[in-house]
Amino acid sequence: MDGPPEPELVRIRDVIYQTAGIFHPDNKLRLLQDRCGRRMKELKVQTLREYSECLTIRPTRQAELIALLNEITIGETSFFRNQPQLDALRRIVIPKILEAKSNLPLRRLRIWSAGCSTGEEPYTLRMLMLEELNVQLKDWSTEILATDLNERSLAHAEEAVYGSYSTRNLTPSYRNKYFIPQGDKLQVNALARSNISFSRLNLSDDSRMTFMKSMDAIFCCNVLIYFDLASKRRVIQHFFNNLLPHGYLFLGHSESLFGVNDDFRLVHLPGATAYVKGERTPAGGKSL
Ligand SMILES: C[S@@+](CC[C@H](N)C(=O)[O-])C[C@H]1O[C@@H](n2cnc3c(N)ncnc32)[C@H](O)[C@@H]1O
Repeated sequence: MDGPPEPELVRIRDVIYQTAGIFHPDNKLRLLQDRCGRRMKELKVQTLREYSECLTIRPTRQAELIALLNEITIGETSFFRNQPQLDALRRIVIPKILEAKSNLPLRRLRIWSAGCSTGEEPYTLRMLMLEELNVQLKDWSTEILATDLNERSLAHAEEAVYGSYSTRNLTPSYRNKYFIPQGDKLQVNALARSNISFSRLNLSDDSRMTFMKSMDAIFCCNVLIYFDLASKRRVIQHFFNNLLPHGYLFLGHSESLFGVNDDFRLVHLPGATAYVKGERTPAGGKSL
C-alpha cells in the first residue's frame, strides 16, 4: 500500500481488533480493504468513510460487523490435519485424563474445539473418540463443544458436507465408517455428528469465555496466529481458567506460548507438544 493508510481503513482495523482480537498490520491493510470492498459492493456503499459508519454508527452496525468478520476470518482446515497430535491425544493424553478422573462419579470427557472453522477438527476428534468407545472410553460419555466466530463456517459445519480437499487425509477405514457419499462429496454420518454442539463464540468476548468451564482438553489450533500479543494473552488466560486441573491445551503445529503465558507448562509428546497447568520447570519443558 503506497503512502500512509487511509484513516477510515485504520478506524475499521481498530473496530475489528477491539471486537475480535484480530489485528491487521500495515502490510495486511490491502487485504482488509479488499474484504471491506466485498461488503461495500453488497451494501452499494461507495466510500470507506460511509462503510466505516455502517460499522460504527448505523442501527444495523452489529449485523454488519458480523458480516465483515465472516469475510475476514480465514478457515483453512481439513480432517486429520495434525496426525502426530491426534496420535498423542489417543495414546497418551486420554489415558492420563481418564486416570486423573478415575475416582470421580461422573465419567464424562469434555473437549473444546475453539476456532473450529467448518467442522473438520471437531468431527475428527469425535471419530477418534468413537474408535475408543469400546476400548478406553467404555462407560464414558464424551461431549465436544465446537465454536467459531464465523457463522458461515458454522453453517457449513452443521451441514457436514465436504469436498476432496478437506477429506484428502482420510483413510479408507474412516471414510467407510463415518461418511456417506453425496455426489462427488462426502457427508459426515449421524454417528460421527452425535455429541457435538456447534455455536458462535468470539474468543475475545470475555463474558462468554468465562462460561466455557470444566474442559478436559482444549484444541485451539491455527487461530491465535491472527491475534496480537495482548489479545492472545487474554484468550490463553481464559483457557487456563476453563481447563480442569489435569486438562490439556493443544495449539497448531507452528504455535507456542513462548513469551505469551508462564502459567502453562509445555509437555513434549511424540511428534507433538501440548500445554498443561502446573509448576514451571527451569528448562521450560518436561517430557512425559
Ligand atoms: C485457520 S482456521 C483453524 C481451523 C482449525 N482449528 C484447524 O486448525 O484446522 C482459524 C479459525 O479461527 C476462527 N477465528 C478467528 N478469530 C476468532 C475469534 N476471535 N473467535 C473465534 N474464532 C475465531 C476463524 O473464523 C477460523 O475459522
